[in-house]
Amino acid sequence: MSGRLEGRSAVVTGGASGLGRAIALRFADEGAFVVVGDLRDDPKEGGEPIADALGERGAFLTADASSADDVDRLVRAAVDRVGRLDVMVCNAGIAGRFSKGLLETSEEDWDAIMAVNLRGVFLGTKRAVAEMVEQEPVNEVRGRVVIISSQHGMIGPPGHVAYATSKGGAINFVHQVAVDFGPRGVLVNAVAPGKILTGNPEGMRPELLEYSHARTPFHRLGRPDDVAGAALFLASDDARYVSGINLLVDGGWMAY
Ligand SMILES: NC(=O)c1ccc[n+]([C@@H]2O[C@H](COP(=O)([O-])OP(=O)(O)OC[C@H]3O[C@@H](n4cnc5c(N)ncnc54)[C@H](O)[C@@H]3O)[C@@H](O)[C@H]2O)c1
Repeated sequence: MSGRLEGRSAVVTGGASGLGRAIALRFADEGAFVVVGDLRDDPKEGGEPIADALGERGAFLTADASSADDVDRLVRAAVDRVGRLDVMVCNAGIAGRFSKGLLETSEEDWDAIMAVNLRGVFLGTKRAVAEMVEQEPVNEVRGRVVIISSQHGMIGPPGHVAYATSKGGAINFVHQVAVDFGPRGVLVNAVAPGKILTGNPEGMRPELLEYSHARTPFHRLGRPDDVAGAALFLASDDARYVSGINLLVDGGWMAY
């Protein structure tokens, strides 16, 4: 049986761990050749390095999503192998110790988050779209960009000023590029995860987990593969007349 991305190529930034890893492996399972770029190749949550998990179905390059040169190398690796870039997934993102309330956020915190979450999205999308507009359409579409935003880009989550602003910017960026490049057959969408369990579960604060459970109507919190399923839809021919959306994968959090 052939996969939904058979013969296609994809780049996934930040794909060594968490959501990016689940997306990369899901795309590979569906037949795509997947180039993963990340600062590290060992998953933050532990387990097999992404290069080993992908095997022949892809490649891993050490790459910083906030560097234009690194992003260029990722796209070239996909094009060299498959002859075109079908899907760009801008997934790399940070929050952690840089994410605070307004008065606690230093200029360095702000710049660190913007460098990856917004500049990284800009650079990845720009390089991908430049490639896509030059290639022939497949089933009417020249290429697809999927940006991993967040439900926190749609509201003001208490105490996360730079992170929420970066994700809100990414969502508006999706609208802009979808409008500007729809006429040339490029589809641009976002997936907005709710609370998805990634990273080291031991390091999660119990009160935050409890709060997330209380806010999520579905009976469990999200798993990386829940996000990968939504990204696969947007990357596949099933989503041909879909552009400029921010697809929530949040177990109903935002409906609450
Ligand atoms: N997990 C969630 O609940 C959740 C919710 C909403 C949005 N998101 C978004 O989903 C994306 C992935 O989140 P995650 O939970 O899988 O994170 P994660 O921290 O588990 O994994 C992120 C990966 O990105 C890599 N990375 C960080 N900076 C990078 C850079 N400059 N260049 C390349 N790679 C870099 C890390 O090394 C890591 O492998 C992020 O954009 C995040 O903001 C996550």
